Amino acid sequence: MNMKKIGVVTRDCAGVNAALRAVVRTASAAGVEVMGVIRGYEGLIKGDLVPLDRRSVSGIISQGGTILKSARSERFFTREGQEEAVRTVLRNEMEGLIVIGGNGSLAGGHALASRHGVRVVGVPATIDNDVGGVDFSIGADTAVNVAMDALDKIRDTATSLERIFVVEVMGRDCGYLAMQVALAGGCEEVLLPEREFDMDSVCREITAGNSQGKVSWIIIVAEGRARAEDIASGVTRCTGFETRIAVLGHIQRGGRPTAFDRILAARLGHHAVEMLLGGQADVCVCMKNSGPDVVPLATAVRRPTFDFRYDYQLLKVLS
Ligand code: F6P
Repeated sequence: MNMKKIGVVTRDCAGVNAALRAVVRTASAAGVEVMGVIRGYEGLIKGDLVPLDRRSVSGIISQGGTILKSARSERFFTREGQEEAVRTVLRNEMEGLIVIGGNGSLAGGHALASRHGVRVVGVPATIDNDVGGVDFSIGADTAVNVAMDALDKIRDTATSLERIFVVEVMGRDCGYLAMQVALAGGCEEVLLPEREFDMDSVCREITAGNSQGKVSWIIIVAEGRARAEDIASGVTRCTGFETRIAVLGHIQRGGRPTAFDRILAARLGHHAVEMLLGGQADVCVCMKNSGPDVVPLATAVRRPTFDFRYDYQLLKVLS
């Protein structure tokens, strides 16, 4: 399609800036003007836009967060809010919109495309890695690495003081981040939203391990399963052992993107522009069998169901 101007909306996580850089530079190379939307859908409603050229995205490949800033927008999920956002698109002659973000952002993009006819292409970017039909979202690899670094440090104290640590990781209702972090950190246990657990059997394992000389444990708990403090007090109650907790929180969402996330961002940002200019809309870009591909946004917004049985068994055999 012969487009003159497109817009780009972002949410924050590591690698979003790298994707924005790829979008702007691919569009510039095709002679297409890019308007950055400040503070996500809230900015789209208010018409808060900034023109972006090749130079305005210099040096951002390694920066976490989003240079466009982000915000939650309750208004956008009302009909009036969406109509206001569409008016901004039309008034500013944006012929297409690229939305870089997770489930909520992509759902917003899907609403604009399916209900209001805006040509939207989504780019999956979320530490939760819970975008339907998409194997890897930008930001998830960085989050795993950031959490793994933290765990390595926690393990030093856990081993030295012979203690049990319960570490809570993000991921909303999805256990992907928790499972990856637990495997990468060589942890003893992981409590996932996708898997029932029995506190008594966790405690029995700790007590049995202790009687054979195992003195330090790291239990990962996904925020969508339970709170670290509840698990820690449960373990202390039934084993009698002292526990400590660490809630990793937003450190997992920030930081310099890993090489994997930068390369994924480059590929997906570039592909999103190509798809938009190629006439595609209401789709989300992804990688399939090492090549760029798309899935419908309607699929992307449906959270995938992970089967962690193999990885969980692996963790238990190796711990
Ligand atoms: O979706 C990304 C995420 O970081 C989740 O893992 C977490 O539950 C949530 O966002 C936190 O949201 P907020 O930054 O609004 O507290």
